[in-house]
Amino acid sequence: MTEKEHAVLLEKDGQIAVITLNKPDKLNAFSVEIRDQLYEALLAVRDDPSVDALVLCGAGRGFCAGADLTEFGTEPAVIRKRRVRLQRDLWDEFRRFPKPIAAALHGFAVGSGLEMAMLCDFRFAAPGTVLSLPEAGLGMIPAAGGTQSLPRLVHHGLALEFALCGNRITAEEGFERRMISRIVPSEDLLKTTIDYMKTLVERNPQSSRWIKTLVANGLELPLSQGLAREQVLVARSWTARRT
Ligand code: COA
Repeated sequence: MTEKEHAVLLEKDGQIAVITLNKPDKLNAFSVEIRDQLYEALLAVRDDPSVDALVLCGAGRGFCAGADLTEFGTEPAVIRKRRVRLQRDLWDEFRRFPKPIAAALHGFAVGSGLEMAMLCDFRFAAPGTVLSLPEAGLGMIPAAGGTQSLPRLVHHGLALEFALCGNRITAEEGFERRMISRIVPSEDLLKTTIDYMKTLVERNPQSSRWIKTLVANGLELPLSQGLAREQVLVARSWTARRT
């Protein structure tokens, strides 16, 4: 398979892995092919001890135009669909991912493309990037985690309005609503995102993993359990420092 035929590319820039959605002719619409290759790439990055953080980006005119509309209704077996979801729960892999992840967004981040980005820790975006969750207008639910990730980023009223109306906003509006972490000029987007991730992890990659796990998982715990978990990892970090 040539590089052009890979739906997802996995490269490394030092200690940072870069995963590129690579179906630019379809604006990287989220297909079964992309899902399966992205899942494999994500596990490879998770298990690679030489990688400390991940940047996710899209080739061509945009990051991702959402679910591949040409695949809608092509999988008739509901049971098979459910089994694939259980075997390759991509969105849960994002949720549980132990290393910091940034999405570099440009052009379009629509539907599952935006939802995928919202499961990342940081979202850097080029000016004018279009953000939208059009699923409700198509009679569907944002099912790439969007109903859960969005209200964890923005006020729940805004989240509900955005998911129900399916309106398009720009990255700058997304920044005002705290969906976007930073606006970066298009020409610098990928380099700035990679450099940012390098500065986050280069001082102590192991601590950055522990801190990410504590912050991300702590949101799901009562404060008492979160504090206890923090103490466990602090003790582990002392042991690691002595060995
Ligand atoms: N699934 C499959 N193909 C898609 C796609 C999708 N979600 N989004 C774009 N494409 C394809 C188009 O069919 C087109 O293919 P073609 O060149 O063979 O005709 C190509 O990608 C470029 O898209 P186009 O619509 O011409 O680009 P644009 O700049 O005018 O508009 C968008 C960009 C993202 C606004 C528009 O493509 C769009 O609305 N896409 C659908 C978004 C959507 O509803 N996603 C599903 C969410 S559940």
